[in-house]
Amino acid sequence: MNLLIIGGGGREHALAWKVRQSPLAERVWVAPGNGGTAREPGIENVSISANDIPSLVAFAREQAVELTIVGPEAPLVAGIVDAFAAAGLRCFGPRAAAAQLEGSKQFTKDFLARHGIPTADYQSFSDEAEALAWLEARAPFTRPVVIKADGLAAGKGVIIAEDLAQARASVHAMLSEQQFGAAGQRLVIEEFLSGEEASFIALVDGKTLVPLASSQDHKARDEGDNGPNTGGMGAYSPAPVVTAELHERIMTEIMRPTVWALAEEGLRYRGFLYAGLMIDAEGAPRVLEFNCRLGDPEAQPLLMRLQSDLVQLCLDACDGHLSEAPLNWDSRVALGVVMAAAGYPDRPKTGDIIQGLEAVAQTPDCKVFHAGTQAQEGAILSSGGRVLCATALGADVASARATVYANLEHIHFDGGFYRRDIGHRALARVTAPEQAS
Ligand code: AMP
Ligand code: GLY
Repeated sequence: MNLLIIGGGGREHALAWKVRQSPLAERVWVAPGNGGTAREPGIENVSISANDIPSLVAFAREQAVELTIVGPEAPLVAGIVDAFAAAGLRCFGPRAAAAQLEGSKQFTKDFLARHGIPTADYQSFSDEAEALAWLEARAPFTRPVVIKADGLAAGKGVIIAEDLAQARASVHAMLSEQQFGAAGQRLVIEEFLSGEEASFIALVDGKTLVPLASSQDHKARDEGDNGPNTGGMGAYSPAPVVTAELHERIMTEIMRPTVWALAEEGLRYRGFLYAGLMIDAEGAPRVLEFNCRLGDPEAQPLLMRLQSDLVQLCLDACDGHLSEAPLNWDSRVALGVVMAAAGYPDRPKTGDIIQGLEAVAQTPDCKVFHAGTQAQEGAILSSGGRVLCATALGADVASARATVYANLEHIHFDGGFYRRDIGHRALARVTAPEQAS
């Protein structure tokens, strides 16, 4: 079977690497891919942008691609699955109408409220004067307020405002100065939730949900979870924060009700469904956001642990007959650390030669998934903010982490940096479970 992966990040490198291992796979293409997928045996890059839907449809037709898997949210929100379906092509991911779960915060908040699925209280606004009046009526704040651009803002559209001045400035920047363009022409202001964050990802065929193993990322750029928010500086699986009991509550209170309520509304959700959750002191989960795709970098450790055939799973989900049978996972821990370019996340430096990748290629149980890289005349150059994610399997968090950091020692490019504390929460829970409960 010919397969196509859409996207060019670390998640897509991991997806391509994983589907390549399927006995069902014949040719595997990645559009547009990166320097890592260019070098991967049995994988070919196609130079078509992930957002050029007509060219992707034409390519899939010409090459008789039987299954396409979409990595990033933008083409999903833009309707890539609808376009493939109209051409009679199988493409795994939600249609545009269901991808609004990530594409519009207001859609999601209204949907959750309509169905009584737990989330923070909110109001939505497109008029600046109304938003400011609402905020002023609540000042001085006893807790921060959370201001979110309605549309896709590459993870930057959420502001936690501590006081009225900051809230006013954020509303003004979004609604009047168009800081996030069209994505910020509407906004949601919501109640600040405290607790511990967790993520939860399931494979969904419209009605049946199969949860993936638990995973957790670190969004802040700097050690100790400080500094600006990023797409994720590292991730690991399993995530001890998601206990068996919490897993059950998330499935019962959030995931199943969401998929079933979408179906009731005529929106069959097929694809990966990723819930970002806040767990309060009583252990109750609430939805912070949904993503309509796998997480990046969560996908890298998850796919390193997945033993079930991803191609068969996606085919079953596309065709609406996913089995409820649990997936098979390597019982070891997988942990990935992102190496980013100087200036990330605001202005990443690009075009630097990456050295030392060959040394890691020799190490069993450690794999470097590329993200912002490009293969050029025998060299691999950096071409984006998150450059690569070194991911390793180990008997426990400490050993997976030791393997990753030992391997990262070999890799160099000008200004490249990474956090040295990825997995610290999981380590704290493993070594002091009674304190972490
Ligand atoms: P989102 O893109 O909606 O997940 O928001 C990005 C990050 O902002 C989350 O990972 C949380 O750390 C934080 N956040 C979002 N909404 C809230 C909220 N209502 N209360 C507290 N923190 C939040
Ligand atoms: N790592 C978070 C995300 O993929 O949205």
